[in-house]
Amino acid sequence: MRKKSFIAVLCLAFVCVGASAQKTLKEAYKNYFSIGVAVNQRNVTNPAQQALIIKEFNSITAENDMKPISVHPAEGKWTFENADRIADFCRQNHIKLRGHCLAWHNQFCDWMFYDKKGRLVKKEVLYARMKDHIQTVMKRYADVVYCWDVFNECITDEVFTRQPLRKSKFFDIVGSEEFIHKAFEFAAEADPNALLFYNDYNECDPVKRERIINLVKGMKDAGLKVDGIGMQGHYNVYGPTEKDFEESLVKYEALVDHVHITELDIRVNQEMGGQLRFSRNENVKVSDDLKLLQATQYDRLFRIMRRHHKGLDVVTFWNLSDADSWLGPNNYALPFDMNYKPKDTYRVLTGFDEAVDNAVVKEDFQPVATCQPGQEWPKVNSQGYVRFRVVAPQAKYVICSAGWGGGMKGTVLRKQDDGSWMGTTLVPEDEGFHYYTISVDGAQVIDPGTNSYYGGCRWQGGVEVPAKDGAFFADRTDVEHGAMQLINFYSPSTKQVRTAYVYTPAGYGKLQGKTQKRYPVLYLQHGWGENETSWPVQGKVGQIMDNLIADGKCQPMIVVMTYGMTNDIRIGGLRGFDIKPFQTVLLDELIPYVDGHFLTKANRANRAMAGLSMGSMETHTITLNHPEVFGYWGLFSGAVYNVEELSKLTVAKPSLLFMSCGGKEQGLVDAIGKMTPALKAAGYNAVPYVSPGTAHEFLSWRRSLKEFVPLLFTK
Ligand code: XIL
Repeated sequence: MRKKSFIAVLCLAFVCVGASAQKTLKEAYKNYFSIGVAVNQRNVTNPAQQALIIKEFNSITAENDMKPISVHPAEGKWTFENADRIADFCRQNHIKLRGHCLAWHNQFCDWMFYDKKGRLVKKEVLYARMKDHIQTVMKRYADVVYCWDVFNECITDEVFTRQPLRKSKFFDIVGSEEFIHKAFEFAAEADPNALLFYNDYNECDPVKRERIINLVKGMKDAGLKVDGIGMQGHYNVYGPTEKDFEESLVKYEALVDHVHITELDIRVNQEMGGQLRFSRNENVKVSDDLKLLQATQYDRLFRIMRRHHKGLDVVTFWNLSDADSWLGPNNYALPFDMNYKPKDTYRVLTGFDEAVDNAVVKEDFQPVATCQPGQEWPKVNSQGYVRFRVVAPQAKYVICSAGWGGGMKGTVLRKQDDGSWMGTTLVPEDEGFHYYTISVDGAQVIDPGTNSYYGGCRWQGGVEVPAKDGAFFADRTDVEHGAMQLINFYSPSTKQVRTAYVYTPAGYGKLQGKTQKRYPVLYLQHGWGENETSWPVQGKVGQIMDNLIADGKCQPMIVVMTYGMTNDIRIGGLRGFDIKPFQTVLLDELIPYVDGHFLTKANRANRAMAGLSMGSMETHTITLNHPEVFGYWGLFSGAVYNVEELSKLTVAKPSLLFMSCGGKEQGLVDAIGKMTPALKAAGYNAVPYVSPGTAHEFLSWRRSLKEFVPLLFTK
């Protein structure tokens, strides 16, 4: 099931996920690199934003306030107030300051290019002015700034040109890269302790990357002090590819002693780079798909950075929150949202697990058991990783909703050279059955490789991760099989012909002498978003019953599964769910129909009811409303009985109160653990069961059924 929609049910089912201790960004990366942030004036003067900076970051860059235009707007005119405020904030809070920037074709002191008559100056004049600027600024902040972006963005984005340098006034005046060399020379003189950087964007583009490398190499060969390369990192959710990013990081690290990611943000559109023209996405709503694409892009890039952290000192986010982002809030570019609250990206970045980083995925993938005939994808390996492959050559993105490990809410597939899309879950999936859909450019569809399963109020794909104890629901060749039949019955209360699946055990209907054997009946309900097919198909009821009966572990019995009408209300409206219509269908219509058409033992002692999740709520309510109908009661992953409600019953105690859940449903594990002794003390036959290592999913319920049915009809 698309698990997001499942949250409503999970909450209702009293399930709460244990929250682990949350690390801040700088804490999470303390063994890897510093985490920086570009700040504006509001950020360093607003107390709440100051607090956030101090808590999360250990490096600061002034977004605009140290740029040439900001501190030196005219010849002889210096305006340091804003820059000083940021520097003082860093001094007071002992946060390192990255200097940004001393020279750039944008936001520069353009007056330096011209003489009084408006003509371009000679390069000597330009150099004298640059020297004065660079040395004045660097000396002023020498105590607090640990590195400077000496020159910003000198390389052109044009691919088909022999001239790697960007067209600029610097270039017009000088005609070679000498102006860059000069800037580094002046900077090295001003403060020998400062690390000197060349900073640029689109730095992972292989063509531009080679030009950056040549430029920096040229400077080093000329004997200039160049300590580092700044990879700006204005990326988007589609790129750079992991390959381009990793190769770039590795190549830059090989060339210089210090690499910094200087201006990281990840847009939700297809633009990237540091150009000052960009789309603000004014009318775009950021979809869940885009949020996941973004969290994944951040995650995968940080995974690479962690792997190559040795030459990487700091990763700086370009702005504190989406409210501050130079790209506007609708680009959704940062780990903190419009209200300075952490987003999924933040949780993914701070919650990473070193074991996951270092995991080795075994290449022994085999098609899953839930593949359509003739299909070989998705595949699962011996560790439980699931790999998806979808052919969609023209798609912009493909996401699979399976793979919720490691803080991810799905698996983003990447395009392969052959036009297919592939992706592997970040961590092994739990054993058992998982629903999933794929999103191809936002269209939610079933992966054509898999069979269809009803869950989440729709048909979905499914993957079956082999369970070590899977023999109990396997298709066995050594046992006799019962039958699973679809019945139609008229329901006067709903004026509809309704359907149910009825399992009858092997040997059902055979004459024993002159009579036919009669059987007890279990009424078994599915969960919210599912229907009458869910237990027979993904629940494997036929296999489980055949195997248990054949092994003599439970009585032969009939199992009836009908639609519990749980989907006729909207998500989130379950609290207002009215049991009456379904209760009427079940008690007044279906049970009489089954007793009238099947060989049943039609009394309380031979009738049981159980359900999973929302079906357990239905079971809970109906058994308490009509305790005289069923003798055995089972709740799987949802409701829990309590002594108080049971003490009001005026009929004999039920023969069994069975309550179960998955081991990962911590809230329920606790509730069941607490209620069982109280129920036992009050004289009830309460039996708990926790399915090891599983969550709110079908393996928990297959196992629950296996534990439950042997206890039925024994009294
Ligand atoms: C941006 C600022 O964030 C904006 O507020 C300003 O209007 C333009 O400059 N590359 C850089 C940064 O090196 O200095 C730029 O900052 C973003 C691109």
